[in-house]
Amino acid sequence: MTVVGRDRKWWKQAVIYQIYPASFCDSNGDGVGDLPGITSKLDYIASLGVDVIWICPMYDSPQVDMGYDIANYEDVYRPYGTVQDMETLIRETHARDMRIMLDLVINHTSDQHAWFKESRASRDSPKRDWYIWRPAKRSATGERLPPNNWRSNFGGGSAWQWDEQTGEYYLHLFAAEQPDLNWENPETRKAIYASAMEFWLDRGVDGFRVDTVNMYSKPAQLPDAPVTDPKAPYQPAGMLYCNGPRMHEFVGEMNAILSRYGAITVGELPNTPDMSRVLDYVSAEAKQLDMVFQFDVVDVGFGKTHKYETTPKNYTLPDFKAAVDRTQGLIRGADGWTTVFLENHDHARSVSRFTDDSPEYRVRGAKLLALMEACLSGTQYLYQGQEIGCVNAPKDTYPLENYLDLDSYLFVDMVKERHGADNKEEVDRAFNALQHLARDHSRLPMPWNGKAKFGGFSEAAEKAGVEVKEPWMKHHPLAGEISVAAQLDDPDSVLAFWRKMIRFRHEHADLLVYGDFKDLRPQDEDLFVFVKEPHQHGGDGALVVLNFTAREKTWEVPRASERGLPEGSTKLVSVMSTHSGKVREGVLAPFEGQVYLIGS
Ligand code: GLC
Ligand code: CA
Repeated sequence: MTVVGRDRKWWKQAVIYQIYPASFCDSNGDGVGDLPGITSKLDYIASLGVDVIWICPMYDSPQVDMGYDIANYEDVYRPYGTVQDMETLIRETHARDMRIMLDLVINHTSDQHAWFKESRASRDSPKRDWYIWRPAKRSATGERLPPNNWRSNFGGGSAWQWDEQTGEYYLHLFAAEQPDLNWENPETRKAIYASAMEFWLDRGVDGFRVDTVNMYSKPAQLPDAPVTDPKAPYQPAGMLYCNGPRMHEFVGEMNAILSRYGAITVGELPNTPDMSRVLDYVSAEAKQLDMVFQFDVVDVGFGKTHKYETTPKNYTLPDFKAAVDRTQGLIRGADGWTTVFLENHDHARSVSRFTDDSPEYRVRGAKLLALMEACLSGTQYLYQGQEIGCVNAPKDTYPLENYLDLDSYLFVDMVKERHGADNKEEVDRAFNALQHLARDHSRLPMPWNGKAKFGGFSEAAEKAGVEVKEPWMKHHPLAGEISVAAQLDDPDSVLAFWRKMIRFRHEHADLLVYGDFKDLRPQDEDLFVFVKEPHQHGGDGALVVLNFTAREKTWEVPRASERGLPEGSTKLVSVMSTHSGKVREGVLAPFEGQVYLIGS
């Protein structure tokens, strides 16, 4: 492949703010976030300096998986609002010079979608073939078995659901209520494009975050997965059902439509450790997707056989840095593009995972990560609440019954099944893992104002005299300490620092967004020291030094040779620090981060 220059594009420089509709802002006091609530906060979002908003699924859905189970692509989940409210949101976003992306969930639908209801109605339904149906297998003793040994993505159960009425199984890589569409059928694909994509593109949306984009094409014959978890009846099969034989044909077909609208795309790309496979999706030459989310960084510390079968902070700083290096490496010598993110609705809070969320250090930790992300190459994503340094809900004030995500409770069910429901030690171990990693932490109602009811989630309704209901998910016990209102006018707040960092990134886009990343001390257990060098032309680089410990640390100025330059003196000019006051070159306070321009 010829290496072309790193083309500049508006979306490469953009910072994209992700919104989880159920938990962002409740305008009418019913305890559920809604579209008018989002619209009412657009000025706040714009004030962060972000360029794009991405709205998680707001479609009509029975909400088994929080809207990732869609019953009708062309309608809105009523508690969130209406298609008209979406039109208002799109218009108002554009009026503030921002763009808007939606979530495109087309690997599966809800079992309540009209297509599936028809498919399920009988074996000779005209839509039978729109989903993936297979007859049962039989064991030696004649027992009914699912067609293969694949484990569903949630909990430990099979990826197949038996349908009593028509006597066959259907495939669901996620929950049983999320049947997988059959992409082999061209008629199905056409319907998906029209209903899920064109309907919204015609209403002015600017792009899509494409859910589980590499699962549409399943391997022929749907073979068994190798047994990697011998104690379990069903096996992790992601390496088999991701990146199937017709993936690029399908994504190419989608892209032909999307590019007619100039829509941007970011695809979720699990189970793709091989970087050349990633490039098949995102190299400019391949014309498939603009960007992808690789899971390397956010999966750091996950258990091997099940992500929650682990203990808190089960990784080292070199592991974390190696993961960052892999995703940054995607643009090295290639014409692809990468993304920068530490949080989304599927992960716990980064301050708790990667720094220290104690009252003493959490503000510093949040700033450290903000500074790190602002200096990494690729398109940057910011998740709601991250800009105020939200932390995980503490174990002692937020009991396990408050966790509502099916991924969490199916895991607890699996543990209880294996070890007995009254095995306190194992259940507590599961709780510890969930307190550290569960998806629930990012889904707590956004703490707008710690002084208002429920952390200010329904503040406008409360002010209007509405009797506001308790939020759908219990609000954060620390909302009194960590909220937007408490930080808005505080120049030393995490919020103020994020605004500063987004400005800083935009101003130095050459180095920070487009530059080449190099980790100078990959083995250092405490410090992350990297440089960003200008791509393709000489000139100053940026040196970033980050202290991931609660101790004061010293560091040595890297020699020119470490950067691959001829030996000579190195000049440093301090340009940014997480700490106010004078920067002490060579010394980092606990969780301090510093940025220098570095020349010779
Ligand atoms: C993606 C979503 C996640 C959802 C799953 C199934 O991974 O981000 O929230 O549960 O797809 O649609
Ligand atoms: Ca509401």
